[in-house]
Amino acid sequence: MTNEPFRPRRSVLYVPASNDKALAKIAQLSCDAVIVDLEDAVAPADKISAREKLAGIFAGRSRSREMIVRINALSSEWGNDDLVAAARCEPDGILLPKVDTPRDLLEAGDVLDDNFAPDSVKLWAMIETSKAMLNIGPIAELGRDPASRLSCFVAGTNDLIRETGVLATPDRRYLVPWLMTMVLAARAGGLDMLDGVSNDFRDLDAFARECTEGASMGFDGKTLIHPAQIEAANGAFAPAAQAVAEARQVRDAFALPENNGKGVISLNGRMVERLHLAQAEKLLAKAAAIGA
Ligand code: COA
Ligand code: MG
Repeated sequence: MTNEPFRPRRSVLYVPASNDKALAKIAQLSCDAVIVDLEDAVAPADKISAREKLAGIFAGRSRSREMIVRINALSSEWGNDDLVAAARCEPDGILLPKVDTPRDLLEAGDVLDDNFAPDSVKLWAMIETSKAMLNIGPIAELGRDPASRLSCFVAGTNDLIRETGVLATPDRRYLVPWLMTMVLAARAGGLDMLDGVSNDFRDLDAFARECTEGASMGFDGKTLIHPAQIEAANGAFAPAAQAVAEARQVRDAFALPENNGKGVISLNGRMVERLHLAQAEKLLAKAAAIGA
């Protein structure tokens, strides 16, 4: 959301709520955010015990990184109870799977309001169904209304592949049009946009390439399934040193007395406008938040 302080979301790690060993590990990890998962990573027989663990997971949490809960779909037998239990933990966000329409988010927001969840509890939406792709503009538009709580989209590439039947290739060529549409919609709604997971967590070279591609496509970060993926995502989604240096030059040039009030200036043989100053300031704020 436009007026929220910048929170880095370069590396956002799913951790199954049912996996105590993985949960115990997160304090040592350098991911920007964690999604505690109640949905696909938890077997049906473990759904209720996983939900009952949430309060313990969030007790005494550090506020230094975002902690999100992914609940089961509201249309499932677990969804509503998951949502109420998650709201009580006051996470930074609740990630809704299988969002098809704006109504799905409005209904979840109503449950949060009815349960007195503070405004700091945002909604994140998985974009992972063909209906969500067709309704993505109106869904993203909710991001312009703070009352909707919508803050972030997450690409659900595994479900999109399963539902549509597109071939999954290493270069994701058949998914790219949808991924780019998601980025565009997220920008229209002032939302963050996270890339989908890479299932092959042993091939870190392929993973690094996918991160670089995702950053080039305009994603803010990537969702991860394994700690080994954190480093590459943190690197790929941080502003490059060269870009930071150029942004400083733009900022410093506009600060010179002779450029005071000018709309356009010349810098190193290139035209630089005030829109580039705004872009540079945004990049510098991001670099400062990340410590780059
Ligand atoms: N979060 C935190 N820690 C994790 C982790 C995760 N997502 N995945 C693995 N680890 C830990 C393991 O517990 C293990 O810890 P240890 O060093 O204390 O033994 C270490 O990292 C190495 O794990 P490894 O043996 O390489 O993998 P694994 O076989 O234990 O687990 C998966 C592989 C895929 C089952 C596991 O990574 C996982 O469950 N990922 C998340 C899946 C998920 O949430 N999916 C839903 C969204 S798509
Ligand atoms: Mg999914």
